[in-house]
Amino acid sequence: MKTLIFEPSNENLIKCSHALKASEIVAMPTETVYGLAANCFDEIAIEKVFKSKNRPTFDPLIVHVNTNEINHSSKFPNLDYLFSLNLISINQINDSLKQTYETLMKTFWPGPLTIIFPKSILVPDLVTSGLQTVAIRAPKHEVAQNLIKLANSPLCAPSANRFGRISPTKASDVYEELNGSIPYIIDGGECEIGLESTVVSVSEQSIHILRPGAITSEILHNATGLQIIERTNNSPTLNAPGMLETHYAPRKPLLLFNENQLNKEMIIKSIEQLKKIDPKNKITKCSLLLNNDSSKNKWLSILPLSILDIFYLNSNENTETAAKQFFETLRKADHSNSDCIIAEQFSIDLGIGHAIRDRLQKASTKL
Ligand code: TXA
Ligand code: MG
Repeated sequence: MKTLIFEPSNENLIKCSHALKASEIVAMPTETVYGLAANCFDEIAIEKVFKSKNRPTFDPLIVHVNTNEINHSSKFPNLDYLFSLNLISINQINDSLKQTYETLMKTFWPGPLTIIFPKSILVPDLVTSGLQTVAIRAPKHEVAQNLIKLANSPLCAPSANRFGRISPTKASDVYEELNGSIPYIIDGGECEIGLESTVVSVSEQSIHILRPGAITSEILHNATGLQIIERTNNSPTLNAPGMLETHYAPRKPLLLFNENQLNKEMIIKSIEQLKKIDPKNKITKCSLLLNNDSSKNKWLSILPLSILDIFYLNSNENTETAAKQFFETLRKADHSNSDCIIAEQFSIDLGIGHAIRDRLQKASTKL
C-alpha cells in the first residue's frame, strides 16, 4: 500500500473523512502526539488499526470526540453529550461522580486529558479490549476536531506508531513508523505538547492517574479538590494497558540511570547484563542522553564505551520544551550508529517533567 501525506486543506480533510466512512484508517495530528484514527463503531476499521500497529488487542483505544461545535452553541461538553454520541452508559453514574466528570470535561476539554467512563454497549468490545469502561478525550488540535466533525463520528485513535515504539510528533515520524501499512497521513506540523494525554479514572473520593501527562496531579487537585492518586508499578490496575512496563521504546537498548547511580561499577555491571541478554550486540559505542551539558564531563570520565554522540533533553531549561522535543530526541538517538543509549533520568519531577520521567522509565531496557 502506498502511504500519502496530505496537507490539512479542507478538500483533503473531506477526502480523509470519506476514507474513514469507508472503513479506512487515517493518521491525524493532535496537540499531544499523532493518532491513527478509525470510526469507533466500525469493527473492520478498528481491526485495521490493531493490525497496522501490530498492537495486541488487550490494549484498549482512546475515543476522540469533537467539542468545538457544542462550545460554539455555549453548552459545555457534558455527560448528556457523550450519551448522545452512544459512547457512555449514564445510569451507572451518580450525582457526585457526575459533578466530577463534568468539572473535568468543562475545565480540560478540548485538551490533553483522557477520562475513563462506564461504557455504552454500543461501543465495540474491540475498542475497550473487553473492559466495561471506555476512555474518551476531546483533542484540541483544529485538524483533529475538523476531521471528527467531517467523519460524523467519534474516532478511536492510538498513537500512530508501531506497538511499543516511540510515539510520533511529526508527520514524517508517522511515515517512518507506518509507511506501507496505512493509506493517509494528515500533516498538521509538530505536536504542541509532544507527550500523550494524561489518563484518569474517577471515583467518588479521588481521581486515579493511570498515565501521567501535561495535566498534572496538582492541576487536577486544584480543579476538583479531590485526592489524586498516582498509579505505581505495583498497583493492581497494572493490566490497565499502556501501563505496560516497556513502551515508547527505541529499537536499541536504553540503559537509564538516576543521578545518584552515577558510578562506574554500576554502569559496567549494567552493560555486562545487557550483553548477556543480547549476546550479538557487542556494545562498544553508545549515544549519551543527558539533561544538559553540566554533567557531561562526569559521564565522559566514567563511561567505559566510546561515545558516538550526545543528546540533551533539557538544554534550554524549559520543561515544556523538553517534553515537546522528548520523543524526537529519543528518535534521533535511535537513528545513531551506536549500539545502545545511555540515558540520565530527567532531573525535574515537577509539572510535565513527571511524565518525561515516566516515558524514559518505560523506554528503558529492563535488566
Ligand atoms: O494523547 C493521547 O492520548 C494520544 C493521542 C493520539 O490522542 N493517544 C494515545 O493512545 O496515547 P494510546 O493507544 O497510545 O494510549 C492509550 C492508552 C492505552 O494504552 C491505555 O492505557 C489507556 O489509554 N486506556 C484506553 N482505554 C482504557 C480503559 N478503558 N481503561 C484504562 N485505560 C485505558
Ligand atoms: Mg501509544
